[in-house]
Amino acid sequence: MTSSFGNVCAIIGAQWGDEGKGKVVDIVAQHYDVIARACGGANAGHTIVIDGVQHIFHLLPSGCFHEGKPIILGAGMVLHLPTLLEEIEEMKKAGFDVLPRLYISSEAHILFEYHKKLDGVFEEARAKKKGKGIGTTMRGIGPAYQDKAARTGIRMESLDADLTSELKERAESIKEQFGLDIDINIELKNLEDARSVLKGCVTDTVSLIHEYLEDGKSILIEGAQGALLDLDHGSYPYVTSSSTTISGALQGLGLPPKVLKSCIGIAKAYCTRVGEGEFSSEASEDDGNRIRERGGEYGATTGRPRRCGWLSVPDLLKVVRLNGYTHWNITKLDVLDEEDQIPVMMSDGYQNLPGWKASTKGLTSFDELPENAKKYIQFIEEQTGVPVAFIGTGPEREEMIMKE
Ligand code: IMP
Repeated sequence: MTSSFGNVCAIIGAQWGDEGKGKVVDIVAQHYDVIARACGGANAGHTIVIDGVQHIFHLLPSGCFHEGKPIILGAGMVLHLPTLLEEIEEMKKAGFDVLPRLYISSEAHILFEYHKKLDGVFEEARAKKKGKGIGTTMRGIGPAYQDKAARTGIRMESLDADLTSELKERAESIKEQFGLDIDINIELKNLEDARSVLKGCVTDTVSLIHEYLEDGKSILIEGAQGALLDLDHGSYPYVTSSSTTISGALQGLGLPPKVLKSCIGIAKAYCTRVGEGEFSSEASEDDGNRIRERGGEYGATTGRPRRCGWLSVPDLLKVVRLNGYTHWNITKLDVLDEEDQIPVMMSDGYQNLPGWKASTKGLTSFDELPENAKKYIQFIEEQTGVPVAFIGTGPEREEMIMKE
């Protein structure tokens, strides 16, 4: 199967995560044979509605609802196994058996309970020292990637091994360094539960994905978080601990850049951020509150109210450079329907674009958009040099304009 986006397409968030990637993944995934997630862990949160029931997933890619399509969890991921088992179970209840088509990289790292505890300890220490932490999701992401970079991580290839003495040693060292008690029986029990379910899923996914390509199969790469949270290029230190750009995604899956045919950038028609850190286009409190309520801007993973603001052209230009976006999906345009004017951050301050003061909710054709909404989209295209292919006009799957 191939789509107009070519046989290997990536979908990569352009802001600070939560851009609403799930919906376009769902639409584009229909045309792809294999769905692959590359990096990150249960810090991601995507909300999916099936038959009116809302599901929130953290590790499985949103594309997993496409029956029969293989799902790859790549080497760049850090996996909290009880969360993965819960999601597999939830999928089962919703009528989808993912296990026979789930392939987990033997190189992906296991995220243990102690990583989560350490996340809390490190956040507290930062708050004490600097007055504020990073505002992490507390899912243990930083500590798990710390272990990986220190070359002390435990990978999925060890799922079958007896890790008792290794975990005992870690518990002792964590007790010594941080005064934290780690219950290794919980860790061992989690491993045992995971072993019985996931044993057949752990494999060399680099070979697998290349074999799929050699067999003429198409691959959809589903990014996690957003490019402004990238460990190298984001607003450090207020970033996540993985590479959230296209380069990180390719690396996490063991794919060379030359296989990539398209990269769809996902950006909200405005901008949000959870956690601390620079947000130069953050709105005033009143404007922020209004956007938050209209857009339902509360974290899927932590429930935290998201900080809300406006599009920033310099940020968009930066992520276009980082990711080489070939197309945009501008999401949640309808959230701006009632704005009189829409500020957009430019390199020399704000430019106010006129609002359209009319409902765009549920529209599916570009021609039906109010004139000023069309102009807003065209402004994004002109400023970034990237065409808009999709425009989200509401939460439902059908509420999407396909512009090209
Ligand atoms: P961590 O990834 O949990 O360590 O959190 C580091 C920063 O990234 C915090 O500001 C989080 O709020 C943010 N973050 C991590 N994952 C996501 C996501 O999927 N969406 C939005 N923000 C995220």
